[in-house]
This record gives sequence, C-alpha cells and structure tokens, in this order.
Amino acid sequence: MIGVFDSGIGGLTVVRALRERLPGHDIIYLGDTARTPYGSKSAETIIRYSLNNTEFLLKKGARTIVIACNTVSSYAFDAVREQFKIPVFEVIGPGAQLAVERSRRSRIGVIGTRATIASGVYEQTIKRLLPGATVYAAACPLLVPLVEEGWINKPETAMIVRKYIHPLKTRQIDTLILGCTHYPVLSEVIQRKMGPQVVLVDSARAIADRVGGHIGKTLEGTAVAEKKGSLTVYVTDVAEQFRKTAHLILGHCLPIQHADL
Ligand code: DGL
Repeated sequence: MIGVFDSGIGGLTVVRALRERLPGHDIIYLGDTARTPYGSKSAETIIRYSLNNTEFLLKKGARTIVIACNTVSSYAFDAVREQFKIPVFEVIGPGAQLAVERSRRSRIGVIGTRATIASGVYEQTIKRLLPGATVYAAACPLLVPLVEEGWINKPETAMIVRKYIHPLKTRQIDTLILGCTHYPVLSEVIQRKMGPQVVLVDSARAIADRVGGHIGKTLEGTAVAEKKGSLTVYVTDVAEQFRKTAHLILGHCLPIQHADL
C-alpha cells in the first residue's frame, strides 16, 4: 500500500497522478487539515508533523511513502527517510527535472510556499541539473488557503495570482514550476495570467512515474493483480470543505475519515 500525505488537500493532485500510473495499487492519503498550512511554519515544526504523519500511515499499512508536499520535501525528506528506513519519495527532484527538460531558454520560475521558497531547494536542484539556468522564485502564501477553501474560480483569487506572478512575468521566464501541490488546482488561472508562451510544470505525473518505476521492481508490484486499487482518505480536522474540493480534484465523491494523530 502506498501512503501519501500533505498538509491538506493539495496532495490529492499527486494521488490523481498515482492512480492513473498505478491503477491496481491501494493508496492511503492523509491531509493534515488541522495543522495546515505548513508553509508558514518553522523547519522543526514541519519535521515533527511529517514524522507524525508518516507514523500514522505506516500503522495503517503503508509500505512506501510519497511526500505529496513541496514544503515537507524541502525540510523533512531526510528526517522521514532516516527515521523509518522505508522507500520515501519527494516532489522537488521530479519537478526540477521536468522543468529543465521543458525549458527552452533556461529561464525558470518557481512559485511555492514561503518555507519552500526560503529553503532555496529548487534553485539548488535546478542549478545542479542545468548549471547555466537562471531561476526566479516567488512565495505565494495566500494560495494554499484559497485552494483549501475551494476558491478556484473567484475573481479575488485571479487578482491575487496576478499580483504574485507579476515579478516573474517581467523576468520573461519560459517555464514555471508549480512548487506546491495545491497549485495545480489553480493551473487554469495561473496559465491565463502568465500567458500561453510559459510552460507550467506540475510534478505530479513525474513523481508518479518515479514511484511506478520503483514499485514495478518490488514484490508488492509483481503481486498486484488486475484489481482496481482502493483509495482511503483521512483528514485531521473537519472534512466538509475538503470533501467538496476533493470531488473537484478527483472527479468523484469519496468517504473521508477522521485521523487522530
Ligand atoms: N501542498 C503543500 C506544498 O506543496 C502546501 C504546504 C502548506 O501547507 O503551506 O508545499
């Protein structure tokens, strides 16, 4: 079973890609809605929450962990790997790789939470892959709560997106990494405000490919029959708004259970 977690709803964009790539696999998801957003918290707190979340998923039977959150990937990837000694996947590497492959002029923008942008992890990863690249980054702290609230098509959201991406637009980036798993939900408005010449990069498909490649080589992968994999979703706080936005992301309703961490 694959355990996936995020601070809230955003990681479901990764679940969507995982289900397409690995339709026979059972997935258990945890959205830590009681403690979202992580992007304005300290590294110590992000690490502590991430260890809690992983422990919960392992107790429920997960054998592989997918960190479907850029903020956690930036600060807690090593801690989770070292503590639990199980296969753990993060989103930064696949996102950076995809951006480098897609960029035509090596002018790459990144948007993310305050914590992800402050970590500088995207710049470091991109420059390792493509030393000549120029990277411009912008923190967009208001976007996570807007997505959690389901404010996808509101004019206020479009205004805020426009304000956040304006500095990147003036730098004439050719590729923009959606460096937060909540942002693909807003990709339509981001693309509209950015202009059609800029390629948006969502790392969900790329991470799903990496997980698929790994699982295909394991016993778990060879044992999966032609059955349809299950999806079990837990949240740590009220599920009502989560249910609505989850429907929007996954295209169907699903039962949501409460997790006591
Ligand atoms: N989806 C998380 C990410 O990718 C959002 C973090 C937050 O809660 O601020 O960074």
